[in-house]
Amino acid sequence: MLHRDSRGLALSGADAAAIAGFEAAQHQFSCYIGDPVATIDAVIERCPQFVLAHAMRAYLMLLGAEPAGLAPARESYAAARLAPANDRERGHLEAVRQALDGNLIAAAAALEDVAIAHPRDLLAIQAGQLLDFLIGDSRMLRDRVARALPEWSPAMPGYHAMLGMHAFGLEEMGQYARAEAAGRRALELEPRDTWATHAVAHVIEMECRPADGIRFMRDSVAHWADDSFFSVHNWWHLALFHLELGEVDTVLALYDDAEKIKGAASPVVFDMIDASAMLWRLMLRGVDVGPRWQPLADAWAPLARSGLSAFNDAHAVMAFACAGRHDLVEAVLSSQSDAIRGAGDHGRITREVGRPVALALAAFVHGDHAAALRLLRPVRNIASRFGGSHAQRDLIDLTMIEAAIRSGEQATAAALVAERADLRPASPLTQLLRGRLQERPAAA
Ligand SMILES: [Fe+2]
Repeated sequence: MLHRDSRGLALSGADAAAIAGFEAAQHQFSCYIGDPVATIDAVIERCPQFVLAHAMRAYLMLLGAEPAGLAPARESYAAARLAPANDRERGHLEAVRQALDGNLIAAAAALEDVAIAHPRDLLAIQAGQLLDFLIGDSRMLRDRVARALPEWSPAMPGYHAMLGMHAFGLEEMGQYARAEAAGRRALELEPRDTWATHAVAHVIEMECRPADGIRFMRDSVAHWADDSFFSVHNWWHLALFHLELGEVDTVLALYDDAEKIKGAASPVVFDMIDASAMLWRLMLRGVDVGPRWQPLADAWAPLARSGLSAFNDAHAVMAFACAGRHDLVEAVLSSQSDAIRGAGDHGRITREVGRPVALALAAFVHGDHAAALRLLRPVRNIASRFGGSHAQRDLIDLTMIEAAIRSGEQATAAALVAERADLRPASPLTQLLRGRLQERPAAA
């Protein structure tokens, strides 16, 4: 008997109860709440031939850029490819296979084809957007969703997720008013959509409205903070608003709180990225973060040679260099050399972006600010290739400004601060940087 999901798409190897479980897992995945892995595992237990359940499990394992996720994702792929599948499901398996081989661009393209043929395939669109995020394809973050939206209606299950994803894509393309409207509409439909919360936080970050951001995040905290595997990142966004206002004690309290950013206590890669990025921004501002780098370096240490993501590498290097773990910095650089010699997207991205960024961060910590600036200048405008959001990659701009100031390259520093002021004219941090420019005499 042919079974279909609530949007009319055929599902192989499922029964009605398994489809209900699959849709529950999809809801958790698209809201970043609960435990979608446990939910989908129960579905697979019931229906081991359920192809898309295996694919969803593989995406959950792969798309967090966790080295530990590769083996279970391979198991899911191996289980799924033996089961009867329709064309749409075979498209998903092709995407999983490409991602397993490290070909994230090809995986994103495979899911593009799936969603062109089946614009109501929410899993294809969500997994595709996460791939767009990992490869820094801003345009597809928006258009992957936009091209499917005409086939959706507000009454369809998951419509909020489409709006939340569209909001994030619009934001990354600089269409802030439309992005904020879409994100807020998603939250009206589903207040627990923490991806939509995140999209609105991004708009507010890019428009530099920190007081609005603090209000928005704190007013909605009951919806995004509990039982969400995205909460650390949303706490990180709240901390960014406080940091913009110079409220360093609040930022450090959020960093240290085991229920919020969690410091070095989380073994999740995306959480460690947030921890590194926050300490690095504090360091750039001249804040003494005390002994916080050491435990974070310890947390990153098992991943020094993982060779999976240049974006991960950069954040690991921040912790290693600032903790004085030069052996681990060298381990990352050596692993990157291996990656550059290899095939696939990772080697190319590492060569173009990951390697110079890692070298620049290490040089900055060594006090060679001129080298840091020289390495970052040609990379900044192509840095999207190693993934992340504009807000995350702003760290590169901030590092360049500080490197220019500290190396006495006054004219370059003034130019970089001026372009920042053009984008964020009311920013207290911009004012602080202007003040720093006055303090430092130009190099002789
Ligand atoms: Fe973000």
